[in-house]
Amino acid sequence: MTLGGIAGIFLAVVSLTASATVYNVTDFGADSTGKNASTTAITKAIDKASEDYGGVVRFTKGQYLSGPFELKSNITLQFDDDVVLKFLDDPKEYPPLTKLLPNGLTFSLPYTPLIRAFIVRNVVIRGKAILDGNGAPWWKRLPPPNARPQFLFFYQSYNITVEDVAIRNSPMYNIQLIYTDHVLLKGISIKNPPSYVDPGPNTDGINCNPCRYLHVTNVTVDTGDDCVALDADLGDKLMGRWPTEHILIENSHMFAGHGAVSIGSATTAGLRNITVRNCIFNGTDRGLYIKTRRGRGGLVEDIHYHNITMLNIRKEGVAIAAVYNGTDEGMHERNIHWVPIDDTTPFIRNIRYRGIRGNSKLESLFIVGLPERQVLDVILDDFHVQSEKGIFLNQTQHIIINGKEQL
Ligand SMILES: *[C@@H]1O[C@H](CO)[C@@H](O)[C@H](O)[C@H]1NC(C)=O
Ligand SMILES: *[C@@H]1O[C@H](CO)[C@@H](O)[C@H](O)[C@H]1NC(C)=O
Ligand SMILES: *[C@@H]1O[C@H](CO)[C@@H](O)[C@H](O)[C@H]1NC(C)=O
Ligand SMILES: *[C@@H]1O[C@H](CO)[C@@H](O)[C@H](O)[C@H]1NC(C)=O
Ligand SMILES: *[C@@H]1O[C@H](CO)[C@@H](O)[C@H](O)[C@H]1NC(C)=O
Ligand SMILES: *[C@@H]1O[C@H](CO)[C@@H](O)[C@H](O)[C@H]1NC(C)=O
Ligand SMILES: *[C@@H]1O[C@H](CO)[C@@H](O)[C@H](O)[C@H]1NC(C)=O
Ligand SMILES: *[C@@H]1O[C@H](CO)[C@@H](O)[C@H](O)[C@H]1NC(C)=O
Ligand SMILES: *[C@@H]1O[C@H](CO)[C@@H](O)[C@H](O)[C@H]1NC(C)=O
Ligand SMILES: *[C@@H]1O[C@H](CO)[C@@H](O)[C@H](O)[C@H]1NC(C)=O
Repeated sequence: MTLGGIAGIFLAVVSLTASATVYNVTDFGADSTGKNASTTAITKAIDKASEDYGGVVRFTKGQYLSGPFELKSNITLQFDDDVVLKFLDDPKEYPPLTKLLPNGLTFSLPYTPLIRAFIVRNVVIRGKAILDGNGAPWWKRLPPPNARPQFLFFYQSYNITVEDVAIRNSPMYNIQLIYTDHVLLKGISIKNPPSYVDPGPNTDGINCNPCRYLHVTNVTVDTGDDCVALDADLGDKLMGRWPTEHILIENSHMFAGHGAVSIGSATTAGLRNITVRNCIFNGTDRGLYIKTRRGRGGLVEDIHYHNITMLNIRKEGVAIAAVYNGTDEGMHERNIHWVPIDDTTPFIRNIRYRGIRGNSKLESLFIVGLPERQVLDVILDDFHVQSEKGIFLNQTQHIIINGKEQL
C-alpha cells in the first residue's frame, strides 16, 4: 500500500467519526419547553460541533424559541419529528448585518436572517419539524416594499441539503440562495399567507440569485410572492457575474403564489439549462413565467418545461415578456418604438414546453418580445391549456404550437 493510500484511509475514518458525533442542543442549555429563548444554546452547540470539524446538532422532541443563528460547515441540523422551532419577532434580535468575508470585502443585509450561512460547505437541515418565522408582526410593521429578514439564507455556499422541514410564516424570502451551488431541497413545505397584489410581502418560496445545480423535488409551496424565483444579476467584485444554470424542479406542488416558477426579471448574467417537470400548480397568478426588460441584458435559453398541470391560474398560464416593467397594465402593447440592440438588450430563445395542461383566466400563452429582439424558437408540444382569451403573440419568431408554426 502506498503512503497516499494509508493517508486516504486515515482521513476517511476521521471524517466518518466526526460526522457521527451528536450535539444535543438541550445539553448546551436549550429550553425544549419553548419558554426561554435558546439562541445562545443553539449557537454554542453549532460552534462546538464546528470546532470538532462538524457533527449533528440535534433538536430533541419539544418546542424551542430562538433568535437568529449562523450555520457552519459540516453541520447537520437534525430535528426530531414534531419539533417546533419558533423565532422571536423582536426586530432588536435581527440587527443590520455586515459580514466581513475572507477576501476582505463585506456583505451587508438590512436585517440578520433567521438562519444564515456564509461560505459554508456540507450543511444539512433535516427532519419533520415546523420552523415558524413568526412573520405576521413583521408584515404588519414593515409592509412592502420594505425589507424584512430572510428565513434561510445561504451566501456563497456549496453542497446544501434541506429535507422534510415545514417552513411557516417567513418575514421575507423563505429560502434565499446567493452564489450557492449544489443545493437539494427535498420533501419540504413552505407556507405563508397568499397575496394576489403586487408588490406582495416578498415571501418568495425559493429565491436564487444566482445559483447552480439546484434540485428541488417533492416540495410544496403556498406563499405570498413567487413560489420559485430564479434570477441572475448580482455582480460581486470577487465572484463576478454567474449565470443561474443546471436547475431541476420536479414532482412539486405550488398553490398560491405570483408565479409558480418565475425566471427573471433580473436576467443580466443569463439563465440556462433549467428544467421544470412533473409539477402541479393550483391557483397561482401565473404558471410558467419568463420576464425581463430593456436595460437588463442577458441571455435566457435552454429552458425545458415538461408534464405540468396548471389549474385555476389567475392570469396567463404560460407567459414570456421581454417588456416587463413591474406592473401588468398595458403589457400587450409596451415599448413600441424600435431602439438599437446593445449590451443591455435581453434575449430569450430556445424554450420548450411539452405536456402542459390546465386552465387560465387570461391568455393560455402570452409572448411579447422587443421590436429589436424578438423572442426566438419557442416550441410547445402537447400543449392544452384552456382560456377564453386564447393566445397572444407579438414580436416573436419561430413559435410552434402542437406542430403548427405561428405566422
Ligand atoms: C438529548 O437531551 C434530552 C434532554 O436532556 C434527552 O432526553 C435525550 O436523551 C438526549 N438525546 C441524546 C441523543 O443525547
Ligand atoms: C428559563 O429561564 C429562567 C430565568 O433565567 C430560569 O429560571 C428557568 O430555569 C429557565 N427554564 C428552562 C426550562 O430553561
Ligand atoms: C468539513 O469536513 C471535511 C471532510 O470531512 C473536512 O475536510 C473539512 O476540513 C471540514 N471543514 C470544516 C470547516 O470543518
Ligand atoms: C455533501 O454533504 C454531505 C452532508 O454533509 C456529505 O455527506 C457529502 O459527502 C458531501 N458531498 C460532497 C461532494 O462534498
Ligand atoms: C414527499 O415529502 C413528504 C413530506 O416530507 C413525505 O412525507 C413523502 O414521503 C415524500 N414523498 C416522496 C415520494 O418522497
Ligand atoms: C443541465 O442540468 C442538469 C441538472 O439539472 C445537469 O445534470 C446537466 O449536466 C446539465 N447539462 C449541461 C449540458 O450542463
Ligand atoms: C406527470 O406529473 C404528475 C404530477 O406530478 C405525476 O403524477 C405523473 O406521474 C407525471 N407523469 C409522468 C409520465 O411522469
Ligand atoms: C385545487 O385547488 C382547489 C381550490 O383550492 C381545490 O378544490 C382542488 O382540490 C385542488 N386540486 C388539486 C388537484 O390540487
Ligand atoms: C409600465 O408600462 C405601463 C404601460 O405600458 C405604464 O402605464 C406604466 O407606468 C409603466 N410602469 C413603469 C414602472 O414604468
Ligand atoms: C405589437 O407590438 C408593437 C410594438 O412592438 C406594437 O406597435 C403593436 O401595436 C403590437 N401589436 C398588437 C396586436 O398589440
